[in-house]
Order: sequence, then structure tokens, then C-alpha cells
Amino acid sequence: MDRTANSLTRSIITALKGFKNNLFALQTVGLGGLLNMARTRAAALGAKNVEYDVQDMREGKLMFRYATVNDLTWLMANYPQYCREERDSPKGATWGLKAAGTVYCSHRIAELKPKKILEIGPGWNRHFDTLFGEQLEYWMIDDATDIGWDKSSREKFEQALKERKHTHFVRGFFGGYAKELADNSFDLVFSISVIEHVPAEAKQDFYKDMFRVLKPGGAIAHSIDIFDETLGRAEFEVIRQAGFELPPYPDLRVRVRAHEGNPTLFEDLGTVFHGYLGINRKDKWQSLKDIPGHTGTIFVYARKPLA
Ligand SMILES: C[S@@+](CC[C@H](N)C(=O)[O-])C[C@H]1O[C@@H](n2cnc3c(N)ncnc32)[C@H](O)[C@@H]1O
Repeated sequence: MDRTANSLTRSIITALKGFKNNLFALQTVGLGGLLNMARTRAAALGAKNVEYDVQDMREGKLMFRYATVNDLTWLMANYPQYCREERDSPKGATWGLKAAGTVYCSHRIAELKPKKILEIGPGWNRHFDTLFGEQLEYWMIDDATDIGWDKSSREKFEQALKERKHTHFVRGFFGGYAKELADNSFDLVFSISVIEHVPAEAKQDFYKDMFRVLKPGGAIAHSIDIFDETLGRAEFEVIRQAGFELPPYPDLRVRVRAHEGNPTLFEDLGTVFHGYLGINRKDKWQSLKDIPGHTGTIFVYARKPLA
């Protein structure tokens, strides 16, 4: 009886979540966008044989797909100098999603050799300032008001602002057309674990602003921690609506078993707990255990057309 009740509860929760995610998608892309999402979903279903691996990173092909284990090992093997230890983790969880997003964006910088870049939502990350600050013009924008930060996070944020040596910092919410960020001026705009925090109703301006600040032919590289197909497709659609060139359809297949080859990179709750919340916070662990499942990150590489 208990088991039936449990499975019924789970089905209801899944259906409610699906409904909520469809509402978010509608808010993000509008009705026309929803129709297009259905179209690209159908195209993706018909393209089951398309394989992907790290090739599409090496050849600079446009991409929109889950990061895989092979991506991470390839990136870490090729760019050991760009790997980032999770700062708050006593375990040094170098394989977390932020670590993957960081080495992915570093790879794009190394590959594209941009002259002027913008990082959205750096938090207290100093990685890019240290690695690339001397070679190129590095801008960042962060409003520092997100996710109800506690006092120590705010202190770390302000400390990083003092310690970065090469950065032009704009305090603000990207998507508000900040005048400090000039039109058609950046070669690359990137972010790591930021875009999932942007509210659905702000998404269209968020990507239009990105389009505005990029030079024609400029690129975006993002690591977006979304683990829901509907929301992933809405993200793809809103980027396309802003005018970016993307691959023909979002490839959001998730592979979990070894025999499927190149499994999707997951961050499990243990990593979230050790990496970001602190090993001694038993209270946090209790509340985390209620969050079902794991999460993955979508790697995005899209371009503003030349003309
Ligand atoms: C989870 S943290 C990630 C920090 C950093 N990218 C890293 O890898 O450590 C998200 C950051 O994004 C910032 N953020 C969220 N939405 C933003 C927006 N629209 N414009 C600027 N910053 C934003 C938050 O203030 C926060 O610093």
C-alpha cells in the first residue's frame, strides 16, 4: 500500500514539475517559441544516429549539448594549466560542473584568441584574471545580489574585486543594456553556472544584450547547469530568437551507462555538498537530500553572424 502511495506521489510530483517547466518555457520564449521548440524536438528525434564526441570542440563546431565525461577528461588532459580546484572543498573536487565549465571556457579562449572578453557572473572567481588578464582586455559584470548570499560570500566577492589585477568590473545585472559595455565590441562572452539563475522573464533581454555587445562574428561560450529537457530546449530557442547561429537542433540526450559510451557528466549531491556547502553543515545536507537526482551542464558555443 505504502509503495503504491509513494509511486502515486512521485508521479504527481513529476507531472507538476513538467507543468511548471512548461510554464517557465512559455515565459522564456513565448508561444511562437514553444512551437519552434516542438519542431526542433521532432528534428532531434529523427536524428538519433548523430554521434558527438570531443571532435565538435576541437573543430570549433557550434554546439548545444550536455558535457560528457570524455569532454572533461579531454579538456583536463589538454589544458592542465586551466584546471580549477573548487575553492571551498576540502576534497578539491576538480571534477565538479564549475570545474568543467571553467576549463571549457578557458579552452574557447585559448582556441579563439579573442582580444576583448566579457565574463557574466564571475562571483568571486579569479581564475580568468590570473590566467588571461595580461594577454587580453577582460571585462566582467555581476550584480552580486543573486541567490541570497550570506555575509562571508559577500566578503569573498568584495575581496576578489580588490585582488583581481586586470579586470574592468561593472556592478550590475547583465541584460539591462549597461552603457559601460559598448555595442559590437567583444570577441567572446562567457559564463559558468550563471544562466540557470536568470529568471525566465529576463531571458530574452539577457541574450539580446549579449548579441548587442558582441562584434559580428563574435562567439558565446557558456556552461549552463540545467537538467531538464524542456528548460534546455527553451534555452536553445531563446538564444536562437536573439539572432545567434547554433547547431540545427539541441542534442540533449543523456547517457548514463558505460555501454552507451561517453556518459553525461553528472554532479551528484555529494559533490554539491562537499564542494559548495561545506562538509560540516549537516543541516544543509538534510535539506539537500530532499532534492531529487543529480544535475548536468549544457555546453553552449554559438556565434553572432558576420552580417
Ligand atoms: C553560482 S554563481 C557562479 C559564479 C562563478 N561563475 C563561478 O564559476 O564561480 C552565479 C553568479 O552569477 C551572478 N549573476 C546571476 N545572474 C546575473 C546577471 N544577469 N548579471 C550578472 N551577474 C549575474 C550572481 O550574482 C553570482 O555571482
